[in-house]
Amino acid sequence: MDSHGLLLQVKDLRTHFFLREGTVRAVDGVDFTLTRRSTIGIVGESGCGKSVMAYSILQLITKPGRIVSGNVFFDRSDNDTPDIVDLTSFKENSPQLRAVRGKDISLIFQEPMNSLSPVHTIGDQITEGMLLHTKMTKAEATKEAIDLLREVGIPKPEERINNYTFQLSGGMRQRAMIAAALACSPKLLIADEPTTALDVTTQAQILDLLKKLQEHFGMAIMLITHDLGVVAETCDEVVVMYLGEVVEQAAVDQLFHDPLHPYTQALLKSVPKLGYGRKQKLDPIRGSIPDPFSRPTGCPFHERCEKRIVGKCEVIHPKLTTLPDGRTVRCLLYEDQES
Ligand SMILES: Nc1ncnc2c1ncn2[C@@H]1O[C@H](COP(=O)(O)OP(=O)(O)OP(=O)(O)O)[C@@H](O)[C@H]1O
Ligand SMILES: [Mg+2]
Repeated sequence: MDSHGLLLQVKDLRTHFFLREGTVRAVDGVDFTLTRRSTIGIVGESGCGKSVMAYSILQLITKPGRIVSGNVFFDRSDNDTPDIVDLTSFKENSPQLRAVRGKDISLIFQEPMNSLSPVHTIGDQITEGMLLHTKMTKAEATKEAIDLLREVGIPKPEERINNYTFQLSGGMRQRAMIAAALACSPKLLIADEPTTALDVTTQAQILDLLKKLQEHFGMAIMLITHDLGVVAETCDEVVVMYLGEVVEQAAVDQLFHDPLHPYTQALLKSVPKLGYGRKQKLDPIRGSIPDPFSRPTGCPFHERCEKRIVGKCEVIHPKLTTLPDGRTVRCLLYEDQES
């Protein structure tokens, strides 16, 4: 990994689940890069491996799942001298891994009830990481937690800090979870569907908040979402996943104006475009995601692809091709254009 401002480089990551019925290759060839302080969107239909990929970065995969190969290079340096580590090489429960989790990289989930504890106060949950990873005293950490709660838009933070999660509304819980995730000023915030459970207004407020906090704290964000509108508004780069593989990575404008992979093209045609009113024709992607136990041969998307080359796509598994402009795409149509 070179030092061109890269924060994260995922290389050929594979995470499989070994079940009695067979092997689920949930993540099966994920490659992408993330620049410091930027926002990357991870998109793709349900079941394509977005969450498993994100949890693999922090080794949060439990049996019967396992990372079977690949690297996750992460630059944990605080200054200009790179300090690159491969997160997949850290042992489970090792001090190095624990230092990265919660301090350098934090994660927020779709449903805050799953990640906030019902038996501890909001304050305790926000200060926990600070007390663990920094030299702050309890009083300093509490003051910092009150500031953070104010920062994420929670009114009367001096009182709220003593609340339990059930005493907060859904939107407030989401804000408290964001405050807890930001407590140690992470370099990377992974947000897995952070707003899906919320109403549209609160959703917009939370996304605005994330952008504001990103500028303030200078962190990078990985935003996993089904909502392409949200991606268009908030992300710099987009990674498109299909059946556990990255099929395309591009800057957000490139991806929306000139999608290359037939899957990306189909995905964009299946959602309404802003400003085109209600009359526009939407094209659902034909077919559905195959059963996880029986992956198609060749290109995993060929059965649903409108551009498939008969005789080739069902046999050849395309490689991830880097084009001269730096975009990557995994499709036979582009392999001869490799830079
Ligand atoms: N603990 C598990 N055991 C077995 N299979 C799993 C497990 N967790 C995930 N999978 C499988 O891995 C694949 C990828 O799942 P994942 O949750 O990453 O999808 P996703 O892209 O996040 O979907 P969604 O958009 O619905 O959140 C799916 O086929 C899923 O069934
Ligand atoms: Mg998911």
